[in-house]
Amino acid sequence: MADDLAPHGSRSLIVTVADVIDETADAKSVTFDADFDYAPGQFITLRIPSDQTGSVARCYSLCSNPFGDEKPRVAIKRTVDGYGSNWVCDNLKVGDQVEILPPSGHFTPSDLGAHLLLLAAGSGVTPVMSILKAALAKGSGRIVMFYANRSEADVIFARELRELRAAHPDRLNVIHWLETVSGLPDAKALATALRPYKAYQAFMCGPGPFMDAVHAGLEGAGFAHHQVHAEIFNSLAGDPFEDVAVEEATDEELADAASVEIELDGDTHELQWPRKQTLVDVMLSAGLDVPYSCREGECGSCACTLTEGTVEMENSGALDPDDIADGYILGCQARPTSDTLKIEF
Ligand SMILES: Cc1cc2nc3c(=O)[nH]c(=O)nc-3n(C[C@H](O)[C@H](O)[C@H](O)COP(=O)(O)OP(=O)(O)OC[C@H]3O[C@@H](n4cnc5c(N)ncnc54)[C@H](O)[C@@H]3O)c2cc1C
Ligand code: FES
Repeated sequence: MADDLAPHGSRSLIVTVADVIDETADAKSVTFDADFDYAPGQFITLRIPSDQTGSVARCYSLCSNPFGDEKPRVAIKRTVDGYGSNWVCDNLKVGDQVEILPPSGHFTPSDLGAHLLLLAAGSGVTPVMSILKAALAKGSGRIVMFYANRSEADVIFARELRELRAAHPDRLNVIHWLETVSGLPDAKALATALRPYKAYQAFMCGPGPFMDAVHAGLEGAGFAHHQVHAEIFNSLAGDPFEDVAVEEATDEELADAASVEIELDGDTHELQWPRKQTLVDVMLSAGLDVPYSCREGECGSCACTLTEGTVEMENSGALDPDDIADGYILGCQARPTSDTLKIEF
């Protein structure tokens, strides 16, 4: 990668690779010399060069502790036939510069002091690891981590987890589940195993079938929707690095606009919401600091709660059924279908 990277948009940051570690045969962690703030569980978006398309954008969760001495670190597992993950694993080396979008996402505990049930499979361990370390550093609650992998050789961060367990024997319990020993975890087995923790806040991340089994297992164990938080890993199709040019609404569109009351960072804003525009576009036009990253419904950065009114969404890929049941919507996809709405970020 060139040494003098120029940012493609006003939101981009240029960071330098400080370390690359082989975590398993098909996963690497990459540490950056950078000092941006982030919340545990958030992700950054990497701009990865491509001869075919110029670049692709791929999100990678931070696995480092935002509150300790660790530099920001991501972990990438090769996807079979995947372009971005293999490019990163094959090419990135110490000293390379990378263009990224700053940390984003809402997969983060609102209370690090709560008892936490962390559920991860494969590369889904990355955001969970950041939450785990942050909660151990800042909170005082109990943490149970259920971590599924194909075999022992596939366990990313095995040594780090052993060290954390040894340092916090009263607070942390790590349950490893190996597919080669016990098969795939099913909903019934999970419900039985997870029932003792039904007062905990659950955070899950992993491949689709794992997430489906965990959702069903948590439901079977008696968890309520609002206790269940999930991060969905998807690849982006567009280019979120380009600055957004929001089309101005016509007089006719403004006359037919919905009214929306938005709570953001403790302030309330009242805006007209033209029906063709998304909530993120409307908020950007109004100069509000709305959280967003991909603008294609895949990363979850723009998730917010609809407390009054109705919207339609073209793509809700970043939301799972528990999120939707709790009233979450994606601001980058939402267009109003009622005349008045209330939304909380
Ligand atoms: C919020 C979030 C957090 C995530 N965190 C992590 C994480 O911590 N760790 C992790 O491993 N993954 C994470 N992911 C998943 C990650 O972003 C990627 O989806 C994953 O690495 C697979 O990407 P891939 O390009 O390798 O595979 P694919 O997306 O499957 O690659 C195939 C795609 O690339 C295109 N393509 C193929 N060749 C080229 C080419 N030469 N040029 C351009 N395009 C091409 C194809 O058209 C196809 O669309 C996260 C995703 C999200 C949304
Ligand atoms: S900005 Fe990524 S889902 Fe809305």
